[in-house]
Amino acid sequence: MDSCTTKKRFNLKELSSNDTLSMLYQDVRQGLFNHPRSLPPKYFYDEVGSGLFDAICNTQDYYPTRTELALLQKHSKEIIAIANPQTCIELGAGTSAKTEVLLSQMSTSLSVDEIKYVSIDVCKEVLVESAQRLLNNYPNLTVHSIVGEYVPAIQALSGFDCPALFAFIGSSIGNFTEQQSIQLLTHVAEKMTSEDFFLIGIDRVKDKQILEQAYDDSEGITAKFNLNVLTVLNNNLGANFNLNNFSHHAIYNESEQQIEMYLVSDCDQTVNFTNLGESIHFKIDEKILTEISRKYTKASIQQLLEKSGLVEEMHLEPTNEYFSLVLAKKIINKGYL
Ligand code: TRP
Repeated sequence: MDSCTTKKRFNLKELSSNDTLSMLYQDVRQGLFNHPRSLPPKYFYDEVGSGLFDAICNTQDYYPTRTELALLQKHSKEIIAIANPQTCIELGAGTSAKTEVLLSQMSTSLSVDEIKYVSIDVCKEVLVESAQRLLNNYPNLTVHSIVGEYVPAIQALSGFDCPALFAFIGSSIGNFTEQQSIQLLTHVAEKMTSEDFFLIGIDRVKDKQILEQAYDDSEGITAKFNLNVLTVLNNNLGANFNLNNFSHHAIYNESEQQIEMYLVSDCDQTVNFTNLGESIHFKIDEKILTEISRKYTKASIQQLLEKSGLVEEMHLEPTNEYFSLVLAKKIINKGYL
């Protein structure tokens, strides 16, 4: 396909990109300069981080990607038949590798001239690259990419063709606290009509050892991914983190049903933030929480949906029950008859 034809079928919108740096300043001041120390996970995803993240998904130890992909491959025909979407709107699209299974199904089984894909992600480079690949693969596809965070991107959505299939796969919902998850799903539910569907990929509670290995793979890629966030701070805030002085730790907190990923200081050390005119002293073993990944049971999935104004239409899972792919609808308040 020549690039002229694909260009016409692609557009990209960047939401408040000029604010990114001041947001980073604010997030670091709030998260890293206070106790317990933490960093928001969105800063993982610079170009290097996005590449490492892809590599994690292909490791033997990280089971969610291949498990979810297998579910999509097995059931995409059924999902598309039920949802009959004109548009697929994806939160945290990344490389769209798994979503391509859905788009391919839409492209072959729907009797429409054009299918539409709205991809939302914080990493512009990844969005542009994947859009190019998809446009080449599907001549009847148009792609609208939004660079930004989930909530502002959802709020900016307008004029898309219905019915729409919203997608939030890859168990990214797990990276939010319960309250944040409900808020996010509620925002999506508010955008939905009674015709639309929402496909959500959610990781399940399981054996501690399997979970911890998935977030601390034997090839050390997750460790590199976690440590890369310090490079992001070095590059953007003029910080001088020495990556050799921090270690990656992933523990499964059974009572909270969540993986917690930390960067732990290997020694007493001071890190200077030139651009902030500040420094932090880390004691040995002091830790920074960089990510949570919440795990769900069938029952807690239903509760989460219900609290967000959604109801399960179809629940897909493999025989080992490692992962859930849920197709949900919006709860329509019928009021008094
Ligand atoms: N959201 C997915 C999960 O929690 C993928 C993911 C996000 C992830 N951050 C990660 C995987 C860090 C490994 C390490 O599983």
